[in-house]
Amino acid sequence: MCGIVAYIGKRDVTPILIEGLKRLDYRGYDSAGLVIARDGKLTLRKSAGRIASLESKLDHSLDGSTIGVAHTRWATHGAPTDINAHPHTDQSGRIALVHNGIIENYRTLTRYLESEGVQVESETDTEVLAKLVGHFYEGCLEDAVRKALREVRGTFGIAAISAEEPDKLVAARRGSPLILGIGKEEFLIASDAAAIIQHTANVIYLEDNEVLVVDRDGYKTTNLDATPVTKEVEAIEWTLEQIELGGFSHFMRKEIYEQPEALRTCLRGRLDMDEARVQLGGLAHVARELIKAKRIILTGCGTAWHAALIGEYLIEELARIPCEVEYSSEFRYRNPIVEDGTVLISISQSGETIDTLAALREAKNKGAMALGVVNSVGSTIARETDAGVYLHVGPEIGVASTKAFVGQVTVLAMIAAFLGRRSHLSPAACDQYLRTLATVPDVIEKTLVLDEQCREIAAEYADAGNWLYLGRGLQYPIALEGALKLKEISYIHAEGLPAAEMKHGPIALISEDMPVVILAPRGHWYEKVIGNIEEVRSRGGRVIVVATEGDTEVAKLAEHVLFVPEIDELLAPLVTVVPLQMLAYHAAVLRGCDVDKPRNLAKAVTVE
Ligand code: M6R
Repeated sequence: MCGIVAYIGKRDVTPILIEGLKRLDYRGYDSAGLVIARDGKLTLRKSAGRIASLESKLDHSLDGSTIGVAHTRWATHGAPTDINAHPHTDQSGRIALVHNGIIENYRTLTRYLESEGVQVESETDTEVLAKLVGHFYEGCLEDAVRKALREVRGTFGIAAISAEEPDKLVAARRGSPLILGIGKEEFLIASDAAAIIQHTANVIYLEDNEVLVVDRDGYKTTNLDATPVTKEVEAIEWTLEQIELGGFSHFMRKEIYEQPEALRTCLRGRLDMDEARVQLGGLAHVARELIKAKRIILTGCGTAWHAALIGEYLIEELARIPCEVEYSSEFRYRNPIVEDGTVLISISQSGETIDTLAALREAKNKGAMALGVVNSVGSTIARETDAGVYLHVGPEIGVASTKAFVGQVTVLAMIAAFLGRRSHLSPAACDQYLRTLATVPDVIEKTLVLDEQCREIAAEYADAGNWLYLGRGLQYPIALEGALKLKEISYIHAEGLPAAEMKHGPIALISEDMPVVILAPRGHWYEKVIGNIEEVRSRGGRVIVVATEGDTEVAKLAEHVLFVPEIDELLAPLVTVVPLQMLAYHAAVLRGCDVDKPRNLAKAVTVE
């Protein structure tokens, strides 16, 4: 979604802004723009399309400025055109502003501005905010921004600059992330650490309704009433190498291959084999209350919701606490029942997904304890939850979530044992489970050899218009995840189903044009799934099975078998998902799709 990067310091600003925008490219956008200040005036450049198109509009008149603001826009209000691209200016053209989020009352504000003789030219909600800041401007940008923001309903992360105060940047947030990077004699403001990591690792995170003012001597933070707020400087733990391709053709491919190492980091220091326990520092202070939970609600969107389905299964199995899984977007709007003893677990890679954040706030308002299972350190969900466990799988750049998914499942697997060991799970059973969990990175490593076979299968079926994915029990969420991966990056229609549901309708779809991916690792659903394979085969479907190494029986029934190493069925989803990620990846590449930046999608969905 939209991205912000702003700079004030001693270096030429334009290359820094362009480099920052390119680092935010992965989030998804459809236009870009920037503004610099020099010699008492602002110079703007904006363009629909890619950053390269903006670059083609840059010239030497921008050289030599050391302060500026840039933006990538993901259209919400108004088409992706030059005029709708950010920055937007006020009525004098002397103030420019970029904005992430949505101004919900922009129509009311437009009517007000028009009654005051101010015309809004673009179709965007952002221009209204720029004009409102101009309307309140009386020589102090931060005061005007505060006044304008007090009138606004909705979400924003903004950065503003005025030609009248050319050595100052003003930023603010509500519901849309912003950080300040503190470098040597320079400052950067960004909506994502990726834009500034090459310059500094020292940051402060803005909270909702905080305003940041940065000039050449330093920075200050206040709330919307101008009351000073003291912020702590924190260190970003990600490195520049982690957000670069490092020889891989795509980030998705790199991230699939990073999964073994990512999970080693995720598990490091958390499995206490001597005591057959899980040590989760982020939950220690709430552990007593947590084990008294009467009900756990797991929420997330997309891939995180699939991880939640596996978490539900594992927590119920190991800790015997009743669980429910809810789409965050549904939970937030349906007046959910939250009784005493309800714990909400918010699952999110980015920690910024607006629906998951809203669901978390709703549950907290109703008295639930809220836990986070989040990858982005310092993100809004991580900070608003009462306790939580970070994934520590490193930054995920590809829009299709891969290593974050296995990280989410691994953390939920640890939470299940953390709770289980304090109630129903015997030391011996827990010991065995944790020993298996510790082997998962190596097992995934072995599974990566399926890459070439997945490419061949994808090549055979890349032209099929529809695919089905079937699984039972713990493999059902993997069927959903495999289908989601395929559709989001290759634009092939795909559906994931519990295998037993086939007979209730979807079986009518089976024909020889239909590839059907069936998850059939050994386990207590195995015999039943074999029955489902027969059903598909006898109707001419093209069967691709994911099975346990050495299973010669299943090989006789399928056109293709992807053999994965044997592992306990509770943890098998972490392994069976890998060939499905690879199938989707290769299908997308073969179809010429933009794997890391699929159409219409954004990495973090920060607007509704
Ligand atoms: O950042 P989050 O984990 O909250 O994101 C949730 C979904 O938007 C995300 O998992 C999405 O479904 C992925 N693109 C799937 O690959």
